[in-house]
Amino acid sequence: MINTRVRIKELFQKDFVGKSVTVMGWVRTFRNNQFIALNDGSTNTNLQVVLELNKYDDLLLKRITTSAAIKVEGLVVESLGKGQKIEIKTNSIEIFGDSDAEKYPLQPKKHSLEFLRENAHLRFRTSTFGSVFRIRHSLAFAIHQFFYEKGFVHIHTPIITASDAEGAGEMFKVTALPFDKTPRCEDGSVNFKEDFFGRATNLTVSGQLEGELAATALGEIYTFGPTFRAENSNTARHLAEFWMIEPEMAFCDLEDNMNLAEEFIKYIIKHAIDFNREDLDFLATRLADEEKALPQDKRSEMGLIEKLEFVLNNSFERITYSEAIEILKESNYNKKKKFNYPITGFGMDLQSEHERYLVEKHFKKPVILRDYPKEIKAFYMRQNDDGKTVAAMDILAPGIGEIVGGSQREERLENLETRMKEMNIPEKELWWYLDTRKFGTVPHAGFGLGFERMVQFVTGMTNIRDVIAFPRTPKNAEF
Ligand code: 4AD
Ligand code: MG
Repeated sequence: MINTRVRIKELFQKDFVGKSVTVMGWVRTFRNNQFIALNDGSTNTNLQVVLELNKYDDLLLKRITTSAAIKVEGLVVESLGKGQKIEIKTNSIEIFGDSDAEKYPLQPKKHSLEFLRENAHLRFRTSTFGSVFRIRHSLAFAIHQFFYEKGFVHIHTPIITASDAEGAGEMFKVTALPFDKTPRCEDGSVNFKEDFFGRATNLTVSGQLEGELAATALGEIYTFGPTFRAENSNTARHLAEFWMIEPEMAFCDLEDNMNLAEEFIKYIIKHAIDFNREDLDFLATRLADEEKALPQDKRSEMGLIEKLEFVLNNSFERITYSEAIEILKESNYNKKKKFNYPITGFGMDLQSEHERYLVEKHFKKPVILRDYPKEIKAFYMRQNDDGKTVAAMDILAPGIGEIVGGSQREERLENLETRMKEMNIPEKELWWYLDTRKFGTVPHAGFGLGFERMVQFVTGMTNIRDVIAFPRTPKNAEF
């Protein structure tokens, strides 16, 4: 057994002064042949390890380089130096793994996020990514806790499926057929009957449809899994592989749905403020530094923590899509032709520039838009009485844009079938989905929260590639 270590976080939290301890971690910096800043991943704060002068031979000292993995035994003492309460006076140092300073890609200095993305295998070892991934982990836990407290059942929906839940056709195909010698039907199309599943399959774009099956028996469920979209969007908020949380509730309408989503987002934010303060403070400073390089009008009006507290303490603005179109149409932005996509009126799809205008310039807080035109939304959304709109809702967050998409579902069989025909959704393939409308159908609703967008919002990271360990984006699947 080698692991007798105390985690550095614990050292800072409890009273260890006067005790001998063992710590293990990676060297961040080593200066004056005397001071090691050691990090073991448990906290953003490095532990200062003080070496007695002339106690260690030069050969060992030379091996204490950035990112070397070491074991330190020593006495915890109060620190006289600035910036830390305690430090360790070493008795012994052992090196687990050397790190050749000439070859190690990350120098003990600030690197750009772009550079770190290319070194995603090592970026966990930086302060920024340590904080981001501890927060990401903490938020995942908070999400399960939120639903656990509410009595929702966690359902694992399939990753390989035969259906296109969003009907948007942005799917990655899953096949075991050979690329050469692909079996063909008489008409020349691929014969998927000979494929592994005996039919065409793809990676899921959403667990919602299966979630609805579960909710119409278990009452309230949620999924939390990876989803995949083969959309060629090279932006700071799109991934080809992202994680989504999808609650689905029976006996629930659009308003219940909006209420839950708002409560959910606030719960997650509160959890971060309560349990991840050190990492948040670090990221808040990082963001403020980053923004100093921007022109005044591009900087955030609030600091990261201030922004989170603001969202926590104010109710989200709720308006209809039609009201949003009016606001946008009348805006100075539109009149001065500052939008790349002009406001054409009811029926247009909102671009992220429009969403961000509403949230950041007009309301200056999260906005829930509801009742979208049916033409721009998925087949399963409940049709409103006006014949034009559906009971959809999107939540837009400052700096992010759409963070949640959801709706009340069309529970009336006839309406659903008609809509599916209009939209060319193959009924034959979704017979099981339609069965829920035939046997004990019930008003129900749900939404999807993009986990990475939520983590972006909480951490203030501006690029979605920096909140998932190994981002999958067009032309990029390294690591
Ligand atoms: O709006 P979307 O496409 O909704 C659905 O998939 C529904 N089935 C959800 C439901 O009602 N159960 O996606 C939901 C959320 C978006 O609001 C966004 O936060 C995130 O998923 N999202 C993405 N995140 C990262 N990269 C992408 N390419 C994303 N596409 C959607
Ligand atoms: Mg959406």
